[in-house]
Amino acid sequence: MTVTGAEIEKRAAAEAAARLVEDGMAVGLGTGSTVAFLLPALAARGLSGIRCVATSVATEEQARGLGIAVEDFDSLTRLDIAIDGTDQVAPDGWLIKGGGGAHLREKVVAAAADRFVVIGDSSKPVDALRGPVPVEIFGFGAASTLARLGDDVRPREVPRSPDGGLIADYRGPIGDPAELAAQLEADPGVAAHGLFPPTLVHDLLIATGDAVSHTKPKG
Ligand code: 5RP
Repeated sequence: MTVTGAEIEKRAAAEAAARLVEDGMAVGLGTGSTVAFLLPALAARGLSGIRCVATSVATEEQARGLGIAVEDFDSLTRLDIAIDGTDQVAPDGWLIKGGGGAHLREKVVAAAADRFVVIGDSSKPVDALRGPVPVEIFGFGAASTLARLGDDVRPREVPRSPDGGLIADYRGPIGDPAELAAQLEADPGVAAHGLFPPTLVHDLLIATGDAVSHTKPKG
């Protein structure tokens, strides 16, 4: 099997993040192909007493298969660390996440973590965020929410989220991400969008080749 440059980078960033986890920590596990490299790296550390929550069924299944115990996110009130991938990261630290449609749970987990660590390969940093921006719409009244949001928000041809939400994408201009985030959040039918502010991100680990740069957007 040929290993691509992107896979080498994803693995390097994921392994660097796995080294930040310590015995006894409560850990949030993100979703996606970069996180798929994190889980074996975490399992290989053989840590004792870690408690994990997963942001998707795919992550939960992979983690359990590697012997990592995963709990419902009812039993933990906070997490020491959460580690997740990203679709894009802008120079000012804003992210677009949710390529896999898991951004609602990913944002809830990130917000619960004392330290939210974002991992990615060298394709993830961008000069400016480009759409689409994933959106999850509450299942209740989804058609009316979509009608209110207008032509810029279009449903994705994917199953509903585990929380019953309709996965859609905002395809209009982004401009100031903070303004767009506020605009989307102002609609009561929007459960979550994929714009993650720099204030949420404690550590950014981006691999170029097998070298990993470590920055701290939150300061
Ligand atoms: C899923 C996500 C992922 O973290 C994001 O799409 C990055 O995925 P990958 O690691 O496969 O590039 O937000 O909802």
